[in-house]
Amino acid sequence: MIFESHAHYDDTAFDGDREELLASLKEHGIGTVINVGASLAGCRMTEELMERYPFVYGAMGVHPSETAQLDEENFRWLRSLCSLDKTVAVGEIGLDYHWLDPEPAVQKVWFERQLELAREIELPVIIHSREAAKDTLDMMQALRAGEIGGVIHCYSYTKEMAREYLNMGFYFGIGGVITFQNAKKLKEAVEYIPMDRILLETDSPYLAPEPNRGKRNSSLNLPYIAQTIARLKGITYDEVVEMTDANARNLFRL
Ligand code: NI
Repeated sequence: MIFESHAHYDDTAFDGDREELLASLKEHGIGTVINVGASLAGCRMTEELMERYPFVYGAMGVHPSETAQLDEENFRWLRSLCSLDKTVAVGEIGLDYHWLDPEPAVQKVWFERQLELAREIELPVIIHSREAAKDTLDMMQALRAGEIGGVIHCYSYTKEMAREYLNMGFYFGIGGVITFQNAKKLKEAVEYIPMDRILLETDSPYLAPEPNRGKRNSSLNLPYIAQTIARLKGITYDEVVEMTDANARNLFRL
């Protein structure tokens, strides 16, 4: 069965059909879903989803663009969510310089705090890094994130940068962008990254793969991503599904 390592089913884009959609995943071969919190409200909803659906696990964290909402009080609450049985990661956390809101200095403070939280409670991290390649790597090296472990979600940097994260023992979340015709740099990176370091993800409702590009994304699109990886790696679709499932279980200790 396919392991969906990154989706946001708490998003309002699913308000109309969340229940039917989640109930239909098994029959389409999707066995496990990590619902990733990106805001405090998203974390609250992630808790509800993982209580309700046996195959849904949670990541608890605040996305860099949402870090202005954090303070000491709600950070304590976030920590308590991280100790729930079905919470398997801290995330998504990181740096986003596409949107310089809040300013990088604020993003960095909460990235470091959440990395240290993950270290303390011994959970892997799910990293969001957009147009912030150098600062993300510098911080992760300085804070010895290799000891914490985790996945670089929606990996979008070069093969050279991939080598740095491989050296830290990190995994790479590969999603819909790999199916885009102009994703040359990413295709090179995926050819380079060993199969035992790749996870499948959608980032639903965002980043739908071809041939559904531009539409609302869901885990039902994961086969398009797995097929593209199979072609690039010269292995079968089933091998991609099996290996990425094993990789995710290994990382999230399931
Ligand atoms: Ni995401």
